[in-house]
Amino acid sequence: MTTPAPAASRKVFVKSYGCQMNVYDAERMKDALAGEGYSEASVIEDADLVILNTCHIRERATEKVFSELGKVREVHDARAARGEKTMIAVAGCVAQAEGGEILRRQAAVDLVVGPQSYHRLPDLLRRAESGARVVETEFPPEDKFDHLAAPSPTAIRGRGVAAFVTIQEGCDKFCSFCVVPFTRGAEASRPLARVVEDVKRLADAGVAEVTLLGQNVNAYHGLDEGGATRGLRSLIERLAGIDALKRIRYTTSHPNDFSGDLIAAHRDIDKLMPFVHLPVQSGSDRVLKAMNRKHDVAKFMGIVDELRAARAGIALSSDFIVGFPGETEADFEATLELMRQTGMASAFSFKYSPRPGTKAAELAEQVPEAVKAERLARLQAQEIQQRQAFNAATVGRVVDVLFEKKGRHAGQIGGKSPWLQAVHADGPEDLIGRVASVKITSTKPNSLAGELV
Ligand code: 5AD
Ligand code: SF4
Repeated sequence: MTTPAPAASRKVFVKSYGCQMNVYDAERMKDALAGEGYSEASVIEDADLVILNTCHIRERATEKVFSELGKVREVHDARAARGEKTMIAVAGCVAQAEGGEILRRQAAVDLVVGPQSYHRLPDLLRRAESGARVVETEFPPEDKFDHLAAPSPTAIRGRGVAAFVTIQEGCDKFCSFCVVPFTRGAEASRPLARVVEDVKRLADAGVAEVTLLGQNVNAYHGLDEGGATRGLRSLIERLAGIDALKRIRYTTSHPNDFSGDLIAAHRDIDKLMPFVHLPVQSGSDRVLKAMNRKHDVAKFMGIVDELRAARAGIALSSDFIVGFPGETEADFEATLELMRQTGMASAFSFKYSPRPGTKAAELAEQVPEAVKAERLARLQAQEIQQRQAFNAATVGRVVDVLFEKKGRHAGQIGGKSPWLQAVHADGPEDLIGRVASVKITSTKPNSLAGELV
């Protein structure tokens, strides 16, 4: 017989996979549970509640979750042998997609909760604690943004110099390969004033950089105080007025929502960093059409040109999928060519992975695994070459670095360049949280070294 820990001393351990949205959701879940007396466990063995915050976007996601659950089960059983109860919850997009199947396949799981229902977590846990096995994967009619606890000041303080803030969630685009419209639901934006309040609170607690998050962040259309709809540029303008906030970023964007005024914001607003992540997925119009992306290569190139004209030195990154059904060698070469032509500073590339329930999963001409692997290797080799060239081009230059933390050895501090490159330099710890000029002296595989000037 195991006994639950007293409410005041309970500990939660959240393990997150996948995108920044999940990282942010994990913080919000911890905030919601703090109100129930849960503090954070530093190791899984101490946790009275383990939450796996899962990702469903690519490859064998579900299988990975079950193998991870097997490991959590061992912790659960070891604690049970000591008379301690461990609750196990599965959250995130696999929870949304698999629902009750998770309870069937892993008997130790108490609760399955989709991303739309995190504000109900305390209530759902109480139900699970009283012995029910709970599945919550409905899309509730209320706006989940309205119910999430505001982050507590102590929770904010632990978050360091750079923070993420979700401003938009969900997607109505239905690219034929993608599960997001199914797992994250319809597009929704948080009201402008709420976001501004959150960011002010973060800035008061020492946060100098925010990254605005959304699956389609540039489709943001939040209501302002007067009830008018405002786009991403308006929001960024308001945030730029917060003195203590030094840097603003946003991710991830869709080409079709890239408005002229957002492009011009990169010219007009200094705090908006000159680095844009804009997924294109393929350099072939034929493949883009089959992907239901609703834009062509020319449209994407046009945005790239306008961004470069708006802000000198702006850098770009993108997402690519190789081996989409029907992709030929010529299609793939067009993707390589787009990568070269746009001079991407970095990129993420993925082998196409059929996601259950999506249109592309049913297409006949699936590309053989070996071909996907070979294309991925070529694209990634090209990416490494371009990233290294981009990094090498900063050597000898003086760049602004926002210092975020102590470095590996004593006297060293680390931070980020405007282009999200990790930079290390020798300097005083009181620079952490501030922007300083650094002359870049050399490049390492995953970072740059420099000297304060
Ligand atoms: N297969 C491979 N990659 C995918 N992505 C999304 N769905 C799939 C899929 N089914 C990639 C896209 C997207 C990124 C977040 O993940 O490139 O931009
Ligand atoms: Fe998925 Fe396309 Fe929506 Fe991005 S825009 S989340 S790839 S459906």
